[in-house]
Amino acid sequence: QQDRLDKEKQRAAAQALRWVRDGMLVGLGSGSTAAYFIQLLGQTLRGGQLQIQATATSLATEALARRAGIPLLEPRRGLRFDLTVDGADEIGPRLTLIKGGGGALLREKVLATSSDYLLIIADSSKLVPQLGQFPLPLEVVPFALPWVLDTVALLGGNPKLRLDKKKAPQPAHSDQGNILVDCHFKSLPDPNQLALQLQDIPGIVEHGLFLGLASAAIVAEGDQLLLLRP
Ligand code: A5P
Repeated sequence: QQDRLDKEKQRAAAQALRWVRDGMLVGLGSGSTAAYFIQLLGQTLRGGQLQIQATATSLATEALARRAGIPLLEPRRGLRFDLTVDGADEIGPRLTLIKGGGGALLREKVLATSSDYLLIIADSSKLVPQLGQFPLPLEVVPFALPWVLDTVALLGGNPKLRLDKKKAPQPAHSDQGNILVDCHFKSLPDPNQLALQLQDIPGIVEHGLFLGLASAAIVAEGDQLLLLRP
């Protein structure tokens, strides 16, 4: 199963290379599928067929991009990306997404909204008829955490602190030093309304609902590649 999904990730990532044109400014996503894309993009650049510049959505991606020899740009005013290629944890109807399983939701959303085109690459396990089985990630300012947990619980989110994989039981921190919380809503019949509610809670820096942001998604299903649009 894992092996099959891994192959699908590689296939979707390879297909995404076709979206990259010479001279583009490219946003680099986070997670295992985006990592395949970054490696392949690095190979292509080394082959000399293409020149691009990029910005990473996480410290891990930044390190990967450096190793792959991809030239990196620092954030600055006026910087817009022609294309951002990123993974997703769930892809629901009309390309609504849950992201942030890797904890990079804030930078991912910054680049997604600063890009002319957000291309999502994923294996077939990510396609769902309704969002919400995958726990919805939140990035929360440490001081506000107790009140955020209370408020999200009232919304039915059953919030759980994400634990640091290497330092458990310590909580996981984002690249910005904030706390990551996973909300188990089970199903999200109205993601737009929930997004508005979460945006109103002080201390939530960002949530993992990406609505109206994806331009297209490449989903690999066995040998098939699906190209989905909203
Ligand atoms: C990272 O914060 C996430 O948004 C990733 O895009 C998501 O977790 C997908 O990861 P995989 O490509 O590893 O499934």
